[in-house]
Amino acid sequence: MTISRRVQAIKPSPTLTITAKAKAMRAEGVDVIGFGAGEPDFDTPDHIKKAAIKALENGFTKYTAAGGTDELKDAVIGKFKRDNGLDYDRTQILVSCGGKHCLYNLAQVLFDTGDEVIIPSPYWVSYPPIVTLADALPVILETTEESGFKMDPDKLRRAITKRTKALVLNSPCNPSGTTYTESELSEIADIVLEKGIYVISDEIYEKIVYDGFQFVSIASLDKEVKERTIIVHGVSKTYSMTGWRIGFTAGPSSIIEAMNKIQGQSTSNPTSISQKASQEALSGPQDVVEAMVGEFQKRRDYIIDRLNSLEGVTCVKPAGAFYAFPNLSSYLGKSFREKPIRNSMDLADYLLNFAQVAVVPGAAFGTEGFERLSFATSMENIEIGIDRIEKALKEFD
Ligand SMILES: Cc1ncc(COP(=O)(O)O)c(C=O)c1O
Repeated sequence: MTISRRVQAIKPSPTLTITAKAKAMRAEGVDVIGFGAGEPDFDTPDHIKKAAIKALENGFTKYTAAGGTDELKDAVIGKFKRDNGLDYDRTQILVSCGGKHCLYNLAQVLFDTGDEVIIPSPYWVSYPPIVTLADALPVILETTEESGFKMDPDKLRRAITKRTKALVLNSPCNPSGTTYTESELSEIADIVLEKGIYVISDEIYEKIVYDGFQFVSIASLDKEVKERTIIVHGVSKTYSMTGWRIGFTAGPSSIIEAMNKIQGQSTSNPTSISQKASQEALSGPQDVVEAMVGEFQKRRDYIIDRLNSLEGVTCVKPAGAFYAFPNLSSYLGKSFREKPIRNSMDLADYLLNFAQVAVVPGAAFGTEGFERLSFATSMENIEIGIDRIEKALKEFD
């Protein structure tokens, strides 16, 4: 059987692969510390669960409108107004099965064969394959550790060609935690308007920011920028709802209508019960989010300090999201029992096999020499895990 060329062009998600490998080791009784998780380790708050239970009891178990219920769209509209000062109407909102599904639908709608899409690296693993599946070309724009992994506006301008259709902006960023300020966004927005491209603004980590950082959506800068921006968002990270599969897109009605058409002919509506739960998440009490972020901040402070204290390791302090992205490139070229550590994958393999610590190799995010460690795990696990890494890094030949 021949699998389509479209699918042959992409690889499975490396974050899911490493998590599966760690899980298999755990099933065999190995005590693995997992730094691979891309989801909060907290339970979904009770009031949200209760809304789902009520939906079940009330028989809210049938098809809804393909693009989400009016009630949930109104809750999404309320969120953008309250948090970002952005005005949308129902024709500008689509609810899908997670942020990933929003991005997939959007790529199918926006890109034609040969269109170029600029993706700053390090990037979230799924951006390039989602672009490739739409027959478009991911163009990777490298950033540096020295700049805090922020895009250089001049480099961005130079990367834009006649075929460039969009820029993917992910603030706060997975894996680097990089978060853009209003003035930095303004510089990017000027280039976007000058060149007439779109911005796909992935704001899924909006609420997970530290030290009082004031998140700004690029779409809120002015009316023209808003017309050129499609926001991808969701409840997964903010409310610990990764398994419920609800994401939403906000943007120009013509794009939303086209995404709705695709969704209507593929998945249809996201789960009715999850929609009710998400409505409660967005319009109910928000103090649960603050409590979770407070806990993440304590862990961030600890893990970043510990990583920076390790011999030959540097780590930028993330302003958002729940990942540390340390530079371990000084260990590449070393070997353990004559087995060479050539790249971030070899190092991740070494840490998993010899230190029983699961991390995700930087190569998966387009940045060699780095590893991603999620701190969405208990403080106790973080302490043990970093102790193990510290010891393992001293074992090289
Ligand atoms: C940057 C980023 N965008 C989007 C998503 C997709 O989230 P979901 O599909 O679970 O809503 C993730 C999940 O890891 C992410 O890290």
